[in-house]
Amino acid sequence: MTAVQGKVAVVTGAGSGIGRALAVELARRGARLALSDMNGASLAQTAALVSAEVSGAQIHTQQLDVSDLEGFGNYADAVVQHYGVVHQLYNNAGIGGGRTILDSDFRIFERTLAVNLWGVIYGTKWFLPHIIKSGDGHVINVSSLNGYMAQKELAAYCTSKFGVRGFTETLAIEMRAGKHPVGVTVVHPGGVHTNIATASLEMASEFGIEVTERDRRRVQIYNEKLLRMDPAQAANIIIDGVEANKARVRVGNDAKLVDLIVRIFPSTYGRVLALMERLTMGKS
Ligand SMILES: NC(=O)c1ccc[n+]([C@@H]2O[C@H](COP(=O)([O-])OP(=O)(O)OC[C@H]3O[C@@H](n4cnc5c(N)ncnc54)[C@H](O)[C@@H]3O)[C@@H](O)[C@H]2O)c1
Repeated sequence: MTAVQGKVAVVTGAGSGIGRALAVELARRGARLALSDMNGASLAQTAALVSAEVSGAQIHTQQLDVSDLEGFGNYADAVVQHYGVVHQLYNNAGIGGGRTILDSDFRIFERTLAVNLWGVIYGTKWFLPHIIKSGDGHVINVSSLNGYMAQKELAAYCTSKFGVRGFTETLAIEMRAGKHPVGVTVVHPGGVHTNIATASLEMASEFGIEVTERDRRRVQIYNEKLLRMDPAQAANIIIDGVEANKARVRVGNDAKLVDLIVRIFPSTYGRVLALMERLTMGKS
């Protein structure tokens, strides 16, 4: 029996990227799945993929926007009713993108915080009593390397991911202090080859914000040069970390390198990173 086998694991944002890969790997390791995503069609594709990969996998699916407070509460009730118990929650759903603070539209800040930070808070709050009751629970919140490194033109994203880190580390302290049977892990991925950068352009278009040639080029560079790790590898690293009950999981050498740079240059890392960015992305 591993920390995953036989457990009921909830994964948000399971329709793409890291969430989809988590769903597949959790099923392989014998978890029973509760998968959700805002996008019902891609969620159904994930469920089909899991069923094809793992015969007999138990999968509950439901469309969910994690920024919907009441909807998330109803969803938690539905999962508990379906399985009778919930052990693990992977708060993974997230969105990226951004401009400088001067140029950012308020709606991008509001939406990014609503999904990336409030979504994590809602999920944790609604599921935590059930996870405690399971007697062997775990909350896994996906932050980013931007949870410890600020970066220009990513203010909303950095704000949300620093927030996820603070929230999750507080949860860990409280679970330990209260002697609750709940492991807590904050995950800091570096670049993973997913749809996140491209989706940020789609979000801007949905808000009627002009997508410039520079925006498109930036996303292209992200996709080609920075978001490199296979999501399946990221999922393996994350779930290995959960099975080892790690408080903090950095995914990829880029996440580890940036962590080191921020520790060595706590107040001037921005300049070091700007130089690295110029070398990677050219002048922008
Ligand atoms: N890909 C990376 O390089 C990277 C790096 C650091 C952190 N992360 C984090 O990993 C997580 C997963 O991102 P990904 O890279 O797999 O991106 P992705 O765009 O491939 O997948 C994100 C999924 O979340 C869903 N989603 C978006 N908004 C939602 C909402 N309001 N409610 C429910 N579902 C919603 C999308 O439909 C999509 O299926 C995010 O929290 C992201 O910030 C990713």
